[in-house]
Amino acid sequence: MENGKRSSFTGKLGFVLAAAGSAVGLGNIWRFPYLAAEYGGGMFLLTYIVLAVTFGFALMVAEIAIGRKTGLSAIGAFGALSKKHSFIGYLAAIVPIIILPYYSVIGGWVLKYLAMFISGNGIATADGEGAFFTEFTGLIGEPILWFGIFIGVTMLIVLFGVEKGIENASKVMMPILVVLTIIIAIYSMVIDIAEDGGAGIAYYFVPDFSKFSPMTVVAALGQLFYSMSLAMGIMITYGSYMKKDVNIENSVHQIEIFDTGIAFLAGLMIIPAVVSAGTESVGKGPGLMFIALPKVFESMPAGEFIGAIFFILVLFAALTSAISLAETIISIICDKLHLKRLYAIIVVFIGCILLGLPSTLGFGILSDVKPLNMDFLTFFDFLSNSVIMPIVALLTCLFITFVIKTKTVEDEVESSGKFSGKMLFRVIIKYVAPIFLVIILISSVINGLIDAGYVTGGVAEFFKI
Ligand code: TRP
Repeated sequence: MENGKRSSFTGKLGFVLAAAGSAVGLGNIWRFPYLAAEYGGGMFLLTYIVLAVTFGFALMVAEIAIGRKTGLSAIGAFGALSKKHSFIGYLAAIVPIIILPYYSVIGGWVLKYLAMFISGNGIATADGEGAFFTEFTGLIGEPILWFGIFIGVTMLIVLFGVEKGIENASKVMMPILVVLTIIIAIYSMVIDIAEDGGAGIAYYFVPDFSKFSPMTVVAALGQLFYSMSLAMGIMITYGSYMKKDVNIENSVHQIEIFDTGIAFLAGLMIIPAVVSAGTESVGKGPGLMFIALPKVFESMPAGEFIGAIFFILVLFAALTSAISLAETIISIICDKLHLKRLYAIIVVFIGCILLGLPSTLGFGILSDVKPLNMDFLTFFDFLSNSVIMPIVALLTCLFITFVIKTKTVEDEVESSGKFSGKMLFRVIIKYVAPIFLVIILISSVINGLIDAGYVTGGVAEFFKI
C-alpha cells in the first residue's frame, strides 16, 4: 500500500480476483473443515451459508464502500469520516497482528507435509490415528524451523516485492487448486459411499438440529469474518483501490461465491474421509486436515504424487494470504511509527517469531499451559475471531447507523449501479447485526469461562455442544 497516488485495480475482474486471492487461504482449506466437523457437520454448513448471504454480504458491502469513498485504509478511513472514531480502525488493525504468527505456524506444518510428500515419504504421515501429526507438532526444534522458514519466505517476498510474480503465479495455481480439490472431494465421497454407505456425506449435508447451539453461530460467524477477511480493515483497504465505476454489490456476490465455494469443497474433501475413519477423529481440531488428508492420499492411486501437488497449492494459497497479512501490518507500522520499510519488516519478522512461539510450543512442551482450556494456537485464533472481530463488526455497524448513516454507504454503492440488496443491507446493519453480535459476544465469553471451568450446570449445558 504505497503512499502517494493510489494505484487502482484495472477493472472488475482485477478487483474480484485480488480480493478473492486475499480471502482464499488456509481459512478455507484448513479452518472451515475442522470447524464444520466439530460443530455438527450439516448444521454448521447451513448456519455458515445463512450468515454469509446476510451478515457477510452486508458487512463486506459496507467495508468496501467505506474504503472506496474515503480512498484510505482502515485507520485513516474511520478517522476521515469522523475524527473521534478512528479507534475502530486501530482495533481492526490489531487482528492481523494476532493472526499472522499462528497462521505461519500452520504454514510451517504445510511445508513439513510438502517436504514429506516430495521426498516420497508422504504416506508415512498417514500412520495411526494422527500419530504422525501429534508426534511432529509435539517436537520443539523442527516445527519452529518450518515455521521460521515460512515466515522468512513471506518476509523475503515482502522485502523484495515480488508480489506481482506471486500474484501471476497464483492466477494459474488457484484454478488448479480448485480442480484438484474437486477431484479429491469426489474421491472422498466415492470411498465414503463404498465403505460406509455415505455416512460421511450425510453428516456433512444433512443438518442435525439437535447439534445446534449458540456456539455453532459463534464459530460460524468467526469463520465467516476470518475467511472473508472481514472485520479487520482488509476489505476497506481493498475498497480504497477499487475504481469508481465498478459495481460493489456484484463484486461482493462473486467474492462470496468464490470463497464459500472453496470452503465447501474443502469440507467435502475432508469430512467424509474423517467420518468414515471413525467419529472419534471428528473432534481433532486444528490438526484435522493434516490427519484426514494423508489417509485419503494413502488409499488413492498415485497418492504420493497427488499429495505433493496438493500441498504445493495449499502452500501457495497460504503464502498469498500471509503476504497480504504481513503487508497490512507493515504499512501500519510504517505510517504510524514512521519507520523505514526495511526496519518495519525486521520488526514484524521478529515480532511474528516471538508471538508464534507459544502457538507452536503449545503442542509440545507448553501443552500443559492452557489459556481458557485451549492450546495457544486455538486461543489466539479464538481471541481474534470470536472476540475482537465481533467487536469490530459491532462497532462498524453502530458507526454506520449512528455516525455516518446507512445512506452514506448506500449512496457509494449506488454511484456505480443499482443496489438490489439495499433493504437487506439496511436491516442487517441497523438491527439484526448489532443485536446478534451482542449475543454472540456474550456467548463466546461465557463459553470461554465454561471451558476454563468457571461456569457449570444448566447455563453451561445450553451454551456448549
Ligand atoms: N482470509 C484468509 C484465509 O481464508 C485469512 C486471512 C485472515 C487473511 N485475515 C487476512 C488474509 C488478511 C489476508 C489478509 O485464509
